[in-house]
Amino acid sequence: MSKVFEMNHPLIQHKLSLIRDKNTGSKEFRELVKEMSMLMAFEVTRDLPLEEVEIETPICKMMTKVLSGRKVGIVPILRAGLGMVDGFLNLLPAAKVGHIGLYRDPQTLEPVEYYCKLPTDVNERDLIVVDPMLATGGSANAAIQFIKNKGAASIKLVCLIGCPEGIAAVQNTHPDVDIYIAAIDEKLNDHAYIIPGLGDAGDRLFGTK
Ligand code: PRP
Ligand code: URA
Repeated sequence: MSKVFEMNHPLIQHKLSLIRDKNTGSKEFRELVKEMSMLMAFEVTRDLPLEEVEIETPICKMMTKVLSGRKVGIVPILRAGLGMVDGFLNLLPAAKVGHIGLYRDPQTLEPVEYYCKLPTDVNERDLIVVDPMLATGGSANAAIQFIKNKGAASIKLVCLIGCPEGIAAVQNTHPDVDIYIAAIDEKLNDHAYIIPGLGDAGDRLFGTK
């Protein structure tokens, strides 16, 4: 069974309260999502391996630590996942970014794929799938399955708000994928929106309705 990490850092929780507020407009919403993503990236990358290398300071030689191991890939689920990319790239500027376009059919609530462009070497990367909302889990499950089909073996899922239904869905389908999340809300409503949630993340990011 995969692990669920709730990111309860005070800065993350404070910014989360601001993005939940219906009076927060798109500009501020986007900035806050980016800031939260950067703070979450800090925690999500805590287990990246290091290796010792020799460098020379202006004073003398020394052994010091640098990142080693697999390279990282960020995979936003379009559209709303796009809002989290810059925050991650601020801390991981060399990461490659793959895109998966999915939308929830409003009738069936099933994810429909409309775009996919991934780095060619997904099998050699630690992939971080990002999407602000984990509701039924259908979109995350489809995106993860998609990149697994392309050969990815190391995947983490990072979301801002989830609910028990979505977390259980991902854990059941992809028990190898750890979930990093800022809040686990109460439940889904009849339209599969998270309660209390923040509404439609894509619409709030991009000012659409
Ligand atoms: C939202 C959200 C997730 C999905 C979550 O995207 O960004 O991708 O819903 O719901 P699920 O867990 O029930 O699949 P949406 O389909 O609204 O598309 P958008 O990002 O283009 O707004
Ligand atoms: N997608 C969203 O953007 N918000 C929800 O609450 C559920 C799915």
